[in-house]
Amino acid sequence: MVKKNERPKGTDMTFNDRFLRACRREAVDRAPVWYMRQAGRYDPDYRRIKEKYSLLEICRRPELAAEVTLMPVRKLGVDAAILYSDIMIPLEGLGVRFEIVRHQGPVIAEPVRTAADLDRLRPGAADGGLPHALETIRILVRELKVPLITFAGAPFTLASYLVEGKPTRSFRLTKTMMYGEPELWHRLMGLLAETAAAWLRAHVEAGAGAFQLFDSWAGALSPRDYERYVLPHVRAVFDMLSDLDVPKIYFPGVGAGELLPLLAGLKADVIGVDWRVSLAEARRRTGGRFAVQGNLDPYVLTAPTPVMREQAARVIDEGMAEPGYIFNLGHGLFPEASLDKLRELTEFVHEYSADRASKTR
Ligand code: CP3
Repeated sequence: MVKKNERPKGTDMTFNDRFLRACRREAVDRAPVWYMRQAGRYDPDYRRIKEKYSLLEICRRPELAAEVTLMPVRKLGVDAAILYSDIMIPLEGLGVRFEIVRHQGPVIAEPVRTAADLDRLRPGAADGGLPHALETIRILVRELKVPLITFAGAPFTLASYLVEGKPTRSFRLTKTMMYGEPELWHRLMGLLAETAAAWLRAHVEAGAGAFQLFDSWAGALSPRDYERYVLPHVRAVFDMLSDLDVPKIYFPGVGAGELLPLLAGLKADVIGVDWRVSLAEARRRTGGRFAVQGNLDPYVLTAPTPVMREQAARVIDEGMAEPGYIFNLGHGLFPEASLDKLRELTEFVHEYSADRASKTR
């Protein structure tokens, strides 16, 4: 059977499947690399596009969204593309109205805090940007010589924006609902799990070659609360999608090291790790069954080149100690990152990891 987004062997020798192979913990000639938020403001060409169009406007123009997705692939030489979209967009399909405010993030017109608020949310209320995203994916699959990763927000991370109505550091209102109205909380989380799963399934059916579930803020919870209030819904997303024959990545976000032992049974292939936990320790905590992805501190990109290389080499040494390693940052790229530095880093990862792979063969 031909796997999605992977050309039959022998017919297209130019398709780079290094990322897919690493996700499956197969042997690779060098470590694949991509960056969370690799399409973004560090790129002057992207900034020029953003002078004319907002993120949501770009997403509604499939040709443009495809172009923005391709830019970092061409400029940086990364081994995977990630669809230009946002975790909030599938919520349009529930009738949620929001804006993405510059330097702040998602702001919701009517936050969801009561049962009546939740009852207003209806699957299928609008198309949720899905037709545009599917058209963008179809264009990309024709153009790309690397796999296309699609993504969705995990239930807790989405719930935090919906309940708070805006980005938060404390998660006060989110936790107020979680502890005080567990039934309402689980209903909301269940709806968000289904919304994410439907979005991801449609994307894979249109040709996306892998997906990542972003749980950016799950590290705000104790392991016990995560297990009780969040994990069942994360598990549900992966269970609903377990028939899809593409690599599945879970990124439990920043500061989630203490949650890793709870992920051992998840029907995912890859776990994303931030820089607070070593990759060796992340493998140990998750039971050794997953490929790992990460985990350079994004701000290492501000360091002098020799320091950056030294830091990246340590990460690669740890990652490549076992099969199943994908180089990435521990969180998304920041807008002030330098394009030249990113190119240098990508090249270094490829060279250093190729050297290492050839020595261990
Ligand atoms: O990785 C990629 O290049 C693909 C595109 C992508 C975007 N958002 C586009 C975007 C991805 C994977 C996301 C995920 C996302 N969005 C997350 C999870 C990842 C993470 O960072 O933890 C979260 C929490 C969001 C919500 C969101 N959207 C925030 C917090 C912001 C930042 C607001 C700001 O101005 O600082 C956004 C806006 C956003 N999403 C931008 C991009 C390229 C910036 C908009 C711009 O370019 O002006």
